[in-house]
Amino acid sequence: MTQAIAKADYSNCIVGIDLGTTNSLIAVYRDNKITILEIEGDKLLPSYVGLSPSDDLLVGHPARNQYILYPERTIKSIKRKMGGTESVVLGDRSLLPEEVSALILGHLKRQAEIQLGIPVRRAVITVPAYFNDVQRQATRSAGEIAGLEVVRIINEPTAASLAFRNSVLSQKECNGISAVYDLGGGTFDVSIVREEGDVTEVLASHGDTRLGGDDFDRMILDHFMAHIRQEYQTDLHDDRRAVNRLTHAAEQAKIELSAHPFVHVVEEDLAVVNGRAIHLDLELSRSQYEDMIRSYVDRTVHCIQQALLDANLTPSQIDHVLLAGGSTRTPLVRDVLQDFFQREPRSEVHPDLCVAMGAALLGARIQGLAIEQILVDITPQSFGMAALGIGEDGLPNLFHFVRIIPRNTPLPVTRSESFYTLRDNQEAVDVEIYQGENDDVRYNTKIGNFLIEGLSKVPAGNTVIGRMSLDLNGILTVTAVEKSTGLQKSIKIEGVHRPKTALEIEDARSRLADLIPDSQIDDSVMPIYPTDAMEQSDGFGLLREQADILNRARSAFEKMHPDDRQEAEDLCQRIEQLASEGKEYDKALNELQELLYFVGA
Ligand SMILES: Nc1ncnc2c1ncn2[C@@H]1O[C@H](COP(=O)(O)OP(=O)(O)OP(=O)(O)O)[C@@H](O)[C@H]1O
Ligand SMILES: [Mg+2]
Repeated sequence: MTQAIAKADYSNCIVGIDLGTTNSLIAVYRDNKITILEIEGDKLLPSYVGLSPSDDLLVGHPARNQYILYPERTIKSIKRKMGGTESVVLGDRSLLPEEVSALILGHLKRQAEIQLGIPVRRAVITVPAYFNDVQRQATRSAGEIAGLEVVRIINEPTAASLAFRNSVLSQKECNGISAVYDLGGGTFDVSIVREEGDVTEVLASHGDTRLGGDDFDRMILDHFMAHIRQEYQTDLHDDRRAVNRLTHAAEQAKIELSAHPFVHVVEEDLAVVNGRAIHLDLELSRSQYEDMIRSYVDRTVHCIQQALLDANLTPSQIDHVLLAGGSTRTPLVRDVLQDFFQREPRSEVHPDLCVAMGAALLGARIQGLAIEQILVDITPQSFGMAALGIGEDGLPNLFHFVRIIPRNTPLPVTRSESFYTLRDNQEAVDVEIYQGENDDVRYNTKIGNFLIEGLSKVPAGNTVIGRMSLDLNGILTVTAVEKSTGLQKSIKIEGVHRPKTALEIEDARSRLADLIPDSQIDDSVMPIYPTDAMEQSDGFGLLREQADILNRARSAFEKMHPDDRQEAEDLCQRIEQLASEGKEYDKALNELQELLYFVGA
């Protein structure tokens, strides 16, 4: 009985489809959640259609894989031609753009039906805000050819903003003006969107239909080619198979560099030229890559300026900057936007999924479902490591917090950053792990630490990569890797992002009740800083934390170089003197801490 009702509900369902230039997705709202349906194990279906040499229809990955080998039997980026009357050639057939799109939509529909176990008949399909009526009509026709009733055509930025509004923006934040920045594989567009109540209005839209992640890939590919030319005095541009492999490797490298500071690319046996096997083996750093793509990112900023001008707005009048499109995972894009708008761009809803999610939400609304706030998995706190940084005063700061996973990052996630040793022949690094939002680790929560030992005896500046992975269950894995040797050490910290439930807190309290006097576990008397750091613990008027620093210094005197020791002793004395006179001693304490840091105590 229950089964029958469930089926009846689903059979009515309206799916959401993001028909992209590079990738297409299909999503459905059910059980108060939006599910992106996986097609052959992947949420993103490459928007490629092909005919195999034996005339079988290929859609998605198989078509994409054959593209370089059989370009005349493969079609990509058909979205660019939508609304046109010119046919495209596929093997010995000739098809209109909407017919090609219909093959993609039909594939999505069939795969969704297999997964949902019911026929899928109705859909909301998204289009770029700049699409004209003819292009919209062609999209509608594509849906109908694929056997779908297209209940609504909706603008991509509107869909993205809907997804944000129904998940991560609070009720209060929902009204206002957003800039939706959508950088996909082949196209860029930015829309200024005003939301009031249930009405979403696109105030202005601008873009570049020839700018996207494909351009970034091409820059890396050129870099690979130049490297090969230099090393082997040969050019592989005409070798389709090699170009195919290198293009794929370039995209993989790019994706890797969104999360990590370096990527090591190895492609063996690309070709044989004059009896010599050609391999690619190189390292690319994020900063090298950023130099390659900076001019493209700058071009997107010009589009934003134009859109703002059209909407008669200034950057400071924008309430939210919402990110959509896979290429917005690029750190440089986020940095440039942060600079331009002076506010953090929001990416809590997976940028490559949010358009499809918004379409599915609208589908559910049209279906008459009452939609509550949908859940997205993000980390509400930042995670990172302590390092030596430079403070605002230009002086070294021992407590600099380097964020590796910033808050509001969708989960699961793996990110890394590089750190450098400070001293020559430094053989160990203490990795301290914190969560929190302050730039000074002392105001964040320390959640673990470990020592990585046995580093190479090399001059200061040895690169150690700090890597963090956070999964959906709140398990944080932290790894430190010496870049030159691969030597690594890691720990797992459990339960980091899930706040304790009321029941768990009660349980913990009762287990600790006999250890802690009642007054200390009363919330109303809990200080903001850890209690023990606030206690005065010695006769000099020093706080315990500070007295600890002095103790640490004294226990390290033995190991110090005589000059350092003299300086440290003087500083300890001076600090105690100043503290006992009730005078300011921060400067001396900082000097002492710096000294301890440099001597490795
Ligand atoms: N982690 C990542 N870092 C950088 N780029 C990425 C990452 N993941 C995916 N991309 C890039 O995102 C692009 C695809 O984005 P998306 O799926 O949003 O495009 P699309 O919507 O099909 O294209 P368009 O918006 O042009 O119609 C590809 O160039 C892909 O390489
Ligand atoms: Mg897109």
